[in-house]
Amino acid sequence: MKTNSFSRIGFILAAAGSAVGLGNIWKFPYVTGENGGGAFVILYLIAIAFIGLSIFIAESYIGKESKANAASGYQILSKSQNKNWRWGGFQIFAGIIILSFYAFIIGWIIDYLIISFTGLPSTIKEAEDTFTNLITNEIGTQILFHTIVVATMIFIALKGIKKGIERLNLILMPLLALILFGLLMYAMTLDSFGKAIDFMFMPDWSKITVDSILAAVGQAFFTLSLGMGIIITYSASMGKDTNFVKSSVFVAIVDTAVALIAGIIIFSFLFAAGAKSTAGPGLVFISLPLIFAGWGVFGQVIAVAFFCALLFAGITSAVSLLEPSVRYLIEKFEMSRVKAVYLTSGFLWILGIFALLSMSADYGEMLTFFGKNLFDHMDYLTSSVALPISGFVTCIFLGYYVDKNTLKTKFSSVTSVTVFNIWYALIRYIVPIAIALLFLNKLGVI
Ligand code: PHE
Repeated sequence: MKTNSFSRIGFILAAAGSAVGLGNIWKFPYVTGENGGGAFVILYLIAIAFIGLSIFIAESYIGKESKANAASGYQILSKSQNKNWRWGGFQIFAGIIILSFYAFIIGWIIDYLIISFTGLPSTIKEAEDTFTNLITNEIGTQILFHTIVVATMIFIALKGIKKGIERLNLILMPLLALILFGLLMYAMTLDSFGKAIDFMFMPDWSKITVDSILAAVGQAFFTLSLGMGIIITYSASMGKDTNFVKSSVFVAIVDTAVALIAGIIIFSFLFAAGAKSTAGPGLVFISLPLIFAGWGVFGQVIAVAFFCALLFAGITSAVSLLEPSVRYLIEKFEMSRVKAVYLTSGFLWILGIFALLSMSADYGEMLTFFGKNLFDHMDYLTSSVALPISGFVTCIFLGYYVDKNTLKTKFSSVTSVTVFNIWYALIRYIVPIAIALLFLNKLGVI
């Protein structure tokens, strides 16, 4: 078993690799842009520090103590070893659904990486058409890249925790840091840098609505990879001497830093070209390529660097999404790793194809029901419904179904009693109440 657990640095890198993903470089900047900048960033930081981090520590604890997959972990640790806690495994399924569309979105990035070499769109119309065309018409291209991404994940997952996941992160995470550092340095030379900083850090509270609070909490969950059994699964392979509280804090800081840096880079670029910050999901795929095109050959170099960063961040997250179900199948059905990897990947590969077809011109209508296409349903049911529910359940589980003294003893070997008390109050009262209120509000109940 030894070769199949992380080294200390390996665990931290892999957890950071999972956390730092498209959520940081793609989603965070556009959600910040849509929600008016500074005030949203502050809400986001609060959501990370109080809600995200407490659940991250909670998941890390469950994994480390149970040394089991995300479904059995709850049962093993519950006071009565109650079998009903096995349903904690529903988050594993949510993860596979997310991965099915995360994979083809990474496929879009590959497409843009190629466009960066062959020629970027030079007018706004062309930029919009390139993106719309990719999603609605280029089914073959999308399926091809989706398949390449899934095949890459299979290749890495087959090699296991240490030789596959740990090694991948050991290579890609430093490369990602290097690229972001270079892009940040370049952004600093632009006149618009100051404006980007102001936009991101000067709060305008009038822009805040209940929806922005929801978006901040949702983003905190997504960006820290919570609610899908990932942190539980990775922590189950954590080395004995890893301090789960410290490593959680570290990962949250790295993840937040990357999001903020990506935001600064992207807004500096946007403002340099006088572009809007409210472009939504098209920010990275429509607005940025256009700006890069305006910078000529140098812009192409920046574009390649940028899309490589996005690609690396995406791959390390995608690989982490596969592992919970792989571990579950291995432990629960005594499957071989090979079989578990192929079964999971095959399923998500097919589901991903249906999801991408649901956005296409030819098959969209067929795959649209209850007012939304399949992709939107999958996104909504996971990000907005399953993730908060999982977070809520994890809090209730540790807060009420695990012996407090046991928790206290385990925590006291790695941190102070004060930290434990704060964390315990958060997961027992504050976080579940906050999640419940936000969730009910989103459903329109309150
Ligand atoms: N945390 C990753 C990101 O920010 C996304 C992710 C979500 C990865 C869920 C795994 C699980 O992009």
